[in-house]
Amino acid sequence: MITITLIGTGRLSFNFMKEILKNDSLHLNQVFGRSKFRPKHISDEVDYVKDFKNLKTSDYYFICVSDNQISKISNNLDVNDKVIVHLSGSTDINVLSKHKNYGVFYPLQTFSYESELLFKEIPILIEGNNKNTSLKIKTLAKLFSKKVKEMNGNERIICHISATIANNFSNHMVVTAEKLLEKNKIDKNLIKPLIFETFKKLKKTSAIDAQTGPAIRNDKETIDKHINHLSESDFLNLYKIVTKNIMSNEL
Ligand SMILES: NC(=O)c1ccc[n+]([C@@H]2O[C@H](COP(=O)([O-])OP(=O)(O)OC[C@H]3O[C@@H](n4cnc5c(N)ncnc54)[C@H](OP(=O)(O)O)[C@@H]3O)[C@@H](O)[C@H]2O)c1
Repeated sequence: MITITLIGTGRLSFNFMKEILKNDSLHLNQVFGRSKFRPKHISDEVDYVKDFKNLKTSDYYFICVSDNQISKISNNLDVNDKVIVHLSGSTDINVLSKHKNYGVFYPLQTFSYESELLFKEIPILIEGNNKNTSLKIKTLAKLFSKKVKEMNGNERIICHISATIANNFSNHMVVTAEKLLEKNKIDKNLIKPLIFETFKKLKKTSAIDAQTGPAIRNDKETIDKHINHLSESDFLNLYKIVTKNIMSNEL
């Protein structure tokens, strides 16, 4: 049985905790958190520790803390010849270089406390500091997902930028659309069916072919009407920049 310790108790750790507990080939040795009390979402069947000196030996240590804390946490850990990984898309592998065997285990998905995810479908982008460690990380990743890919730091950061645009930016667009409706005292739920259809149709069509609206049609009259309505609004600049980008279709 492969043993894993999760360091951190946030969204990513919570989802990995659930997945490891479901997998008969894996054992969740411990979860480390800095909070004095066990966070509510950490299962009672898990050994929760808040002191590094109480950490047991595991085959793998997953650092699931905020990106800017990975280095600090890594420096506080001594895992001997065991494998330690971080799960960040934008953090270099070398942040863990004080260890003997280290790497990256980046799941290309958005994790929250609410959604139930199908791990088998989540691409896991991996990297190891040596051949043997890469192989170990790859073998482990395959126990979680059928979409495992070796990638260097440059390729991984491109994937992370792409994920940020596709997920964070489009979600922000929905927030902006809802705010505009609310500001005008219109029910924000009216736009929900349109939002669901926007993403549903990407199963059948490429995003470039799915684009509709005044910008792709080069309909300057409608664009001007929109701009006039937004003239007093904070969304105006955003509207103009995105419209220009859709029209030129350039990166
Ligand atoms: N969420 C995603 O969609 C996603 C996707 C792919 C990769 N990742 C990566 O996963 C990692 C964790 O992200 P997350 O989304 O899980 O973040 P999160 O929900 O904000 O959780 C961050 C966790 O880090 C802990 N933490 C921060 N500083 C710490 C310190 N000095 N000592 C101990 N614990 C500390 C926090 O503890 P407290 O609860 O005590 O504050 C919290 O448990 C990041 O590297 C991120 O890039 C996230």
